[in-house]
Amino acid sequence: MNGLEKAITMGRFKDTTSDKAENEEFSENGTKQANLAGLVPTLEDMLADIRSMTILSKEAFLSYYNLIEPPFSVTGTDQRFVYLSESYRNILSSCIATVVDSMGLGVVYGQVGSGKSTLARLLTSRFEGNDEYLIAYIDDPGVAPSALLRNIMHEFRVDVPARQLEALKSYFKGFIYEQATLRDRTVILIIDEAQKLDRHTMELLRVLLNYEDGRDKLLQIILFGQTELKNKVDKRPNFRNRIVTGMNIEPMSIVEMVRLIKHRLRVAGRETPVFEEDAIALLAEVSQGLPRSACAVGWWALRLGCENDEKLISSNIVQQAAHKALRPL
Ligand SMILES: Nc1ncnc2c1ncn2[C@@H]1O[C@H](COP(=O)(O)OP(=O)(O)O)[C@@H](O)[C@H]1O
Ligand SMILES: [Mg+2]
Repeated sequence: MNGLEKAITMGRFKDTTSDKAENEEFSENGTKQANLAGLVPTLEDMLADIRSMTILSKEAFLSYYNLIEPPFSVTGTDQRFVYLSESYRNILSSCIATVVDSMGLGVVYGQVGSGKSTLARLLTSRFEGNDEYLIAYIDDPGVAPSALLRNIMHEFRVDVPARQLEALKSYFKGFIYEQATLRDRTVILIIDEAQKLDRHTMELLRVLLNYEDGRDKLLQIILFGQTELKNKVDKRPNFRNRIVTGMNIEPMSIVEMVRLIKHRLRVAGRETPVFEEDAIALLAEVSQGLPRSACAVGWWALRLGCENDEKLISSNIVQQAAHKALRPL
């Protein structure tokens, strides 16, 4: 049981409606049906209830908090919202060093929602538009080796002349050799969701990593994957031995998470506090070091805060938001 589940079980995020309904349903003189008749609303009541639900638009709660744009959007890849904590900065700079020094293979592990894709995109964008580097970003490597290699070549904007894996490999080798030797370019491959690789695609990457020009590796690869990738890698020593940089995205500390939340609110247009101090600390605590959880709870907190007319959001609202966003299914 993790910390949040424990907190919920201990009643910290208690659902106050369910206990009451249960007690009433089985209490006192009548049968279960008699009580149900009193509890279950009629169809008309239910439809009226649905009609009376307010549709609180995104714009409404944003303007209630003087926000210009959503601070906790979980889909965007907008770099302005990224808060570079010290450990995120270290991971990013280690990835950049691995690539720039042509060291071959780097791997970044992290839980779901820890910021892997965010880092992968930051890394990619660091090299985009720079003529000394050629970079491809793959976000679904869960395909057969020949399909993966075709996708990689497609991302490098290489015409794919063949369908057979062996022919594709030799064509790709020629391409990266030309880029490295004739154009003096570093060729980089970033793979997100790398836990989807299987032994066949890992073997393909191992072969690609073997290509050298006598001096340097011709291809630099950085993998970003969920923690189960580590088990897969550990089972394949000849792949693991090629890793020169292996990093874990550790959960953010509460202090860092508070900074992340404040950073996102500031970028969204709000300079002054939106949360009471202990409420923002609670938001950071319940997100357990995961930026995605912080964003999900933060978004609910803004909605519920607006519905409850709390200009400065309290811990109580954050608790309710955590209950909605993080309650274990
Ligand atoms: N360093 C960060 N600063 C601000 N927001 C972040 C940061 N890292 C991740 N996020 C946010 O958290 C959410 C999940 O991040 P993501 O990179 O998709 O995680 P993962 O790929 O590990 O599942 C996204 O909305 C992203 O914007
Ligand atoms: Mg991801």
